[in-house]
Amino acid sequence: MVNNFTCLKPPIKYPGGKRFLIPTVKEYWLKCNSKRLVEPFSGGLSIVLGIAPKNALLNDSNPHVINFYNWIKKGLVIKMPMKNEKSFYYHKREEFNQLILENKMTTKKAASLFYYLNRTGFNGLVRFNKSGFYNVPFGRHSNINYKTNFKEYIPIMKKWNLKSGDFSSIKIRENDFLYIDPPYDVEFRSYSMDEFQWEDQVRLVEWLSNKKCPIIISNQATERIIKLYKKYNFKLKYILAPRMISCNGDRTPAKEVIATKNL
Ligand SMILES: C[S@@+](CC[C@H](N)C(=O)[O-])C[C@H]1O[C@@H](n2cnc3c(N)ncnc32)[C@H](O)[C@@H]1O
Repeated sequence: MVNNFTCLKPPIKYPGGKRFLIPTVKEYWLKCNSKRLVEPFSGGLSIVLGIAPKNALLNDSNPHVINFYNWIKKGLVIKMPMKNEKSFYYHKREEFNQLILENKMTTKKAASLFYYLNRTGFNGLVRFNKSGFYNVPFGRHSNINYKTNFKEYIPIMKKWNLKSGDFSSIKIRENDFLYIDPPYDVEFRSYSMDEFQWEDQVRLVEWLSNKKCPIIISNQATERIIKLYKKYNFKLKYILAPRMISCNGDRTPAKEVIATKNL
């Protein structure tokens, strides 16, 4: 079932956000929209907000982003001051890392700080060092419209379950519809302290191989990814992503592969 909500924008900036894939995923989703949408790599929530299912299971290995969504579900209103100012930013980054150190990552304060750092830091990056501390530098944005009240997300998220862990910890049901958006098969892109390696790309398709429900995967169309998805009998199509990759100084549009099964 689809909700009657107008399409809400993601509440944060997120690297690898797939808003440009909403029409593509929606086309498949509309054929089976009574199902539960499951996103093992939900990141910035652009797809789930774009297609607005009634039931969803959203997982990400980044516990901070999931904590932020959990607080949105509970009606987050940010009370702390938010300033687009370098020294203030680094002070708040320190406070956030202190919460991580003290194991207070699931607090409302951590959720508020996470939002502030994401909006104020460099290029909407979400990056942690090897020890798990947030290390994004100040962003130098000319103007930021900080949101303080997230109540508009409460109704749509009512029946969405949130979870943080490795994708393989999710229990898939027969009546699920899977949208899979792993980190791209490119050189290291750090979302969290654990990198997503080639072995993880392989582990992911192996995990999917015995699932009977409809599956869509999006990834960068590298040679080895195409070979891997073909080996596991996915149907492939390609689209040009609205971002550029630099090849020998050339600026070429990145090619995205859409791999489907049981659809
Ligand atoms: C390409 S992003 C997802 C973007 C999302 N589809 C969107 O439109 O905003 C990939 C996500 O996978 C998460 N991730 C990395 N390794 C993971 C793992 N082993 N299990 C679950 N999530 C993981 C990252 O934290 C990141 O949020």
